[in-house]
Amino acid sequence: MGPRTTISIIKCDVGSLAGHHTVPRPLLKIGERHLGEAQKEGLINSYSVFHAGDDLELLMVHNQGEENREIHKLAWDTFKEAANKAAALKLYGAGQDVLKTAFSGNVRGMGPGVAEMEITERKSDPIVVFAADKTEPGAFNYPLFRIFADPTNTAGLVVDPELAGGFEFEVLDVIESKKVVLKCPEEMYDLIALIGTPGRYVVSHVWRAKGGLKCAATSTTRLSLIAGKYVGKDDPVCIVRAQHGLPALGEILAPFMHSYFVEGWMRGSHWGPLMPVGLKNSRCTAFDGPPRMVALGFQVADGKISCDDDGNPMISDLFDDPAFDLARREAAEMAVTLRRMGEFEPARLSAETMEYTTLPKILEKLKNRFEGSDIEAKMPLRVTQ
Ligand code: F6R
Ligand code: MG
Ligand code: MG
Repeated sequence: MGPRTTISIIKCDVGSLAGHHTVPRPLLKIGERHLGEAQKEGLINSYSVFHAGDDLELLMVHNQGEENREIHKLAWDTFKEAANKAAALKLYGAGQDVLKTAFSGNVRGMGPGVAEMEITERKSDPIVVFAADKTEPGAFNYPLFRIFADPTNTAGLVVDPELAGGFEFEVLDVIESKKVVLKCPEEMYDLIALIGTPGRYVVSHVWRAKGGLKCAATSTTRLSLIAGKYVGKDDPVCIVRAQHGLPALGEILAPFMHSYFVEGWMRGSHWGPLMPVGLKNSRCTAFDGPPRMVALGFQVADGKISCDDDGNPMISDLFDDPAFDLARREAAEMAVTLRRMGEFEPARLSAETMEYTTLPKILEKLKNRFEGSDIEAKMPLRVTQ
């Protein structure tokens, strides 16, 4: 048995340069300083600071376990300082996701998004971390289904006996705060019945049925549900473990060879095509998007991210690759098709989801102008036999 190692990715929108599109260097530097000091003190063993659009992402590898107070406090203090810096620089949306509340031991429910996975290290443990902007946690439902349950995506489900026993999906109902575990392939249709509604049912964890090996964890916070109103989007993060009896790296990335639609584009109010991008294109521009996702690949070894000879963590920018050009092109084409529809559904989200946006304020204004109508009585809408 290898050592117990935890991978934590904690993210927060602390403010952006020129609207809601990117995290500028001074804020990234604050992240690097805090995590660098925590590494020197021995709280964490490795880290990487990057951004997904306007979200500051703190990737930490350590031995403190999941939901650890010190790790969460480190992230919270980092976000607080970065938000203050953003305010001092008059950056846009400074402190957007740093809810005005005192730290209570866990950043969950305080604004930031969190995905964590404590694992027993295998002989070699490849990890992929995904981070997305202008979308919501359910954006991982479709790729996680393809990766762990769809034999047309993951060859290993068909040809590798280690995977043949299938995978268990924990699904969270974010509206009613309930969860259920469904096993694939046996309960695949039921799983799709739920997670096909990504705004409500969110895949939070995946395990391999054989041996209960943990293999995926996502962030599931819906900030608007916590705050009770629209306060930006819960741009999500996800950790996936790869290879040797789990889906191969290439099977984990295969769902992103095509774009697919996610909720949360512009003002958290629109469907948009997901665009997988390298870090250099992790900026949301056109109509505040299209929603983008980055993917980082690395190895964990002895509680750390494996490093090169100079001690730098070796991290691969997985979507910075022409293999995803087609998906990017599809996303750009799907984006213009949707935008041609303006504010008409299905470009705009359903009325139910729009309750958590600023639209109700507009509807409220019109409320008293509606008059009674007998139109239904005059029109023979119901056909009787
Ligand atoms: C923010 C986001 C953006 C904003 C939009 C309006 O995460 O998704 O699309 O909702 O730019 O922002 P405000 O209301 O701040 O001008
Ligand atoms: Mg923002
Ligand atoms: Mg964002």
